[in-house]
Amino acid sequence: MQSPVIIKLGGGLITLKDQLCTPKMSIIRNLAQSIHHLVKMNKRVIIVHGAGSFGHLKAKSWKLHEGRTDEGLPIEDEFTSQVEAIKSVRQDMKNLNQLVTNEFNKLGMSTISHSPHTWAFETGRNFIGDLNRFNLEENSIHFTHGDVVDCKGTTEFGILSGDDICYRLAVELNASHMIFAMGGAPGVMTLPPSNPETKLIPLWTPNKIFQGQHQSDIDVTGGIYLKLNVAEKISQHVPMVWIIDGECPERIEEVVQNGDTYGTRIISESP
Ligand code: IPE
Repeated sequence: MQSPVIIKLGGGLITLKDQLCTPKMSIIRNLAQSIHHLVKMNKRVIIVHGAGSFGHLKAKSWKLHEGRTDEGLPIEDEFTSQVEAIKSVRQDMKNLNQLVTNEFNKLGMSTISHSPHTWAFETGRNFIGDLNRFNLEENSIHFTHGDVVDCKGTTEFGILSGDDICYRLAVELNASHMIFAMGGAPGVMTLPPSNPETKLIPLWTPNKIFQGQHQSDIDVTGGIYLKLNVAEKISQHVPMVWIIDGECPERIEEVVQNGDTYGTRIISESP
């Protein structure tokens, strides 16, 4: 079986992060078109997408990333319990997935979606779940995403990030490429993207020190720090690991076709 190209579409790329359940349809459409070119070249593609405003906002106010708790929950809200909030976030994630896959279907690509809460348990990169489901139906693009999953013990549930799913898919399915498509920056930057002095770091090796920006007021997963940590670990197994600007989706094609583009390549050892 062909080694897959795994593409993570960050939640901040495909949604407006601070406006509840607002997709960026034109960006999703452009991504679908670029990825279609890869599919037409007979590349096997697996797509993992993030949550953005379809996940983080409700998860944050209902503390879903902390597991079961009674403390500090909203008092006046559309939900009365964490259980209701979980149901709603899972549904929102399904809706976002549907919006994304529709754009691929419109271009004639067949897609299969795997909502993590139906097959994965526990959070972090050691989550439990059989990834063989991504090896079936080779002619379809398989999709999955970050989600609220069930956990053992007193936590009962938690947030499984799409980045951690990427790690397991990339390693267990022997990916040829792992491409993190983000919004708002051409790759890993020397300073937060809003700083005019900021510069792209074209080659990232482990243990570099930098000032990232993690919107902890919105994000319940790890932002750029988790992404870099996961990307470093993936680069020990996968030859081509990149963080690129998904608003320029032709860069995804360039990585796969030429092995190079404007973005940050992550390698496991210093050259
Ligand atoms: C988060 O998934 C899932 C939920 C909050 C339900 P990710 O960690 O993959 O999402 P983004 O890319 O940061 O939005």
